[in-house]
Amino acid sequence: MLNQWSHMSLSPILAQWVEAADTAGLTRQQQLYTLLKGAILDGRLAAGYRLPSSRQLAVDYRIARNTALHAYQQLLAEGFLVADRGGTRVAGLMPVQPQPAVDCDAARHPRLSQRAGRLQLRQGEAVLPFAPGLADLNAFPWGSWARQLQRAWGEVSARQLAYAAPGGEPMLRQALADYLRGRRGVLCSPEQVFIVPGAQLALDACARLLADPDDTVWLEEPCYPAARTAMTAAGLRIVPVPVDAEGMAPAEGLWQQRPPRLLYLTPAHQYPLGAVLSLERRLEFLRRIGDGWIIEDDYDSDFNHSHPNRPLPVLQGLNPEAPVIYVGTFSKLLYPGLRVAYMVVPHWAVRTFGEAVESLYRAGQAVEQRALARFLEGGILTRHARRMAPIYQARQLCLRDSLLQAFGRVGRICGGAAGLHLSLLLPEVRDDRAIVRRAAELGVTARPLSEYYAVAEAAANGLVLGYGMADVARIPELVARLAAATGDDARLDALHKAGRQ
Ligand SMILES: Cc1ncc(COP(=O)(O)O)c(C=O)c1O
Repeated sequence: MLNQWSHMSLSPILAQWVEAADTAGLTRQQQLYTLLKGAILDGRLAAGYRLPSSRQLAVDYRIARNTALHAYQQLLAEGFLVADRGGTRVAGLMPVQPQPAVDCDAARHPRLSQRAGRLQLRQGEAVLPFAPGLADLNAFPWGSWARQLQRAWGEVSARQLAYAAPGGEPMLRQALADYLRGRRGVLCSPEQVFIVPGAQLALDACARLLADPDDTVWLEEPCYPAARTAMTAAGLRIVPVPVDAEGMAPAEGLWQQRPPRLLYLTPAHQYPLGAVLSLERRLEFLRRIGDGWIIEDDYDSDFNHSHPNRPLPVLQGLNPEAPVIYVGTFSKLLYPGLRVAYMVVPHWAVRTFGEAVESLYRAGQAVEQRALARFLEGGILTRHARRMAPIYQARQLCLRDSLLQAFGRVGRICGGAAGLHLSLLLPEVRDDRAIVRRAAELGVTARPLSEYYAVAEAAANGLVLGYGMADVARIPELVARLAAATGDDARLDALHKAGRQ
């Protein structure tokens, strides 16, 4: 039999507790504390309400005295309860509104900024063959990486557990400057190299620090969606500029009508269609950028399939004085979860842009950066890239052949000079988002090409297919599944026949 206080407000609250199973992974004491705090906050236990003594509570609810005591002590310490000579009572808190347990009505809560509302939300993707943007995570050199990490941990002191050196660990900046000069033709000194946690953050930094809200940014159309996200989040005005076989192709008048403050390019392998920006256009962009900035996203050129031993030089290397921010990432060569990327800044902007980046973000990952520097210095990364290049090339060839067989009549394959993906253009009668949904049900991940466009009416229809994770032995069968996911072929056949007549 419960005591006289129990018929008051506390009884139904604790009854819930006694009935509930311990599913939340909380201790009994944490559960009691949470329950009482919730009841105080939503007004079920009113200010001034007297609680039974911890001893009494323990007896009535058959719980350990310590459970009650510790829950009370925590609530006393946080100011939800007060103790006086009469015992323990609920503190006189600010008036609170009773709240429903679950409130899904977003209109009742403060909204995000208008800019956030315009973002293209990221679709989570399974790590399955044909997921774009992924290297072969199974081929990652675990052993060497673990050894370098262990060595780096042995070298660092407590000082390096604080924020890392601005711009990154000097040894990584040095190693990267050498690597980029040798492999990519980037002309830079170590001071110009800034290590950042991911190319995405580099794009965010460029959008926020090189342009002001309402400034104009030219983006390739179609474009890497997360680049659009970074520009949108910074409040920039996006001008989608179509791409052709030579990369971004602005109409002549655009330079006068809407000159870019920022110009975002993926020159080595346009993302996602795969064009290589011609030398003529590279020179033209450098000549006409004026007082704007070019962002050169060199995201996947570690694997150059057209010229494995003579990769295309970068745009930055054509004129190291030009206002070009060169961005690269280790996400494709190693793994995206590493979150290490870099920006190369013109020497004349090292102080201004560098200081702005440092004040906006905090540097970390000193240990990973040291391990990475050894990976570069010791040639482990280059050996890994050399080992993977023919594997990826074989995967691309196999994917190409399989796509030609399955879709050759109606589809067109684009890209492949570098990187880890191909795009397949499909006729408009196909809804690429529906194909992708059906493919997912069949265990194949692909991305709809139409999602890469800013202007829906201009969007081409197709699939973006990563082959980094796709084993040659499985590719033909996976493509067959993709073909099955394109479904009813009657209209495609009709289209094909019409094309032949
Ligand atoms: C074109 C392009 N730029 C940048 C990135 C982002 O790289 P990170 O993982 O370093 O943010 C990606 C990732 O897929 C990409 O495809």
